[in-house]
Amino acid sequence: MAILVTGGAGFIGSHTVVELQNAGYDVVVLDNLSNSSEKSLERVEKITGKPVKFYKKDILDREGLNEVFEKEDIDSCIHFAGLKAVGESVVKPWEYYENNIAGTLTLVDVMRKHGVKNIIFSSSATVYGDPAIIPITEECPKGQCTNPYGWTKSMLEQILTDIQKADPEWNVVLLRYFNPIGAHKSGLIGENPNGIPNNLMPYITQVAVGKLKELGVFGNDYDTPDGTGVRDYIHVVDLAKGHVKAVKKLEDNSGLSIYNLGTGKGYSVLDIVKNFEAATGIKIPYSIKPRRAGDVATCYSDATKAKKELGWEAEYDIKDMCADSWNFQQKNPNGYED
Ligand code: NAD
Ligand code: UFG
Repeated sequence: MAILVTGGAGFIGSHTVVELQNAGYDVVVLDNLSNSSEKSLERVEKITGKPVKFYKKDILDREGLNEVFEKEDIDSCIHFAGLKAVGESVVKPWEYYENNIAGTLTLVDVMRKHGVKNIIFSSSATVYGDPAIIPITEECPKGQCTNPYGWTKSMLEQILTDIQKADPEWNVVLLRYFNPIGAHKSGLIGENPNGIPNNLMPYITQVAVGKLKELGVFGNDYDTPDGTGVRDYIHVVDLAKGHVKAVKKLEDNSGLSIYNLGTGKGYSVLDIVKNFEAATGIKIPYSIKPRRAGDVATCYSDATKAKKELGWEAEYDIKDMCADSWNFQQKNPNGYED
């Protein structure tokens, strides 16, 4: 029996494949490589010493998916595949709804036709919108998303919830990630954004490596201790381990479950700059810029439900996250390109 990992060549997917293989699971990766490189999977093989079975296919390709389900003995799916750039989604909403929603509908249909009804879905803290409660529990009402990407997550949560309700043979785990950063300790795999990074940590590491001149801090007039945005940064290896725990949950025929995957701690943009400087000894020049449209002041989790029900909690701290992000960037200044 194998776990199908869609989007398994990407940032979170590749780290999760490592943890699944380390835990003894058989894994099949499916990815169209639209935002990743097959090299990440070669690196995974180096880390685990096990081969990774890989299909270069698209989740919109029904026939391609059918072939994979016919060839492989799959009993569950961890579904990472999706487009995730917030700004791009505002400019190309159709592409985001098509890829993320139509792609997931196709995947789920092929799964059920093959009697596979176990899925873990990559959701996001973005579904809380401007959160009504801080720290954010899973009971916090979902909010208004500020971009099409966020809506795809919110809508897919609803779609998977309705599918599970209509057919209780389905087991669905919705994992709401907070802000994943860091990289595997080996420095072999990590985050490898295309072009100029949108997210804070890859931007900082590219300033540190000399590819970008200075960090723009998007607003210092929020209602937070230092005026800059506060987020719940989580080490990607901790996040990956959370998926192994979620697989165990599926094995208990869990029905529908929803978990925040965060640390429960909030750090501001300037906290991250300071921690990065302390962990690496490199000064990060920055200047204050206007607020970025759609950003909320504060977003961090209450992580107790995952601890209680999955037996999972984050182990790495902010120093590890900064040091490991930098280790990957330093060893791979051009990402997976030689
Ligand atoms: P990523 O872009 O590195 O990984 C996504 C992978 O999916 C890529 O390898 C890409 O090539 C693949 N993909 C995209 N569309 C596909 C399609 N139609 N068919 C097959 N493969 C396809 O992103 P990531 O950071 O690893 O994120 C993984 C998942 O977690 C995504 O669904 C993302 O929305 C979600 N998420 C990410 C974050 C974050 O901050 N990184 C936060 C919350 C949720
Ligand atoms: N920021 C800057 N300068 C930058 C980039 C970011 O000041 O160059 C600030 C932002 O304003 C925010 C914080 O750093 O206050 C974090 O921003 P990110 O772009 O790294 O992350 P977000 O919290 O905006 O969003 C991320 C993912 C979403 C996901 C969400 C889940 O991009 O896909 O985390 O919490 F939904």
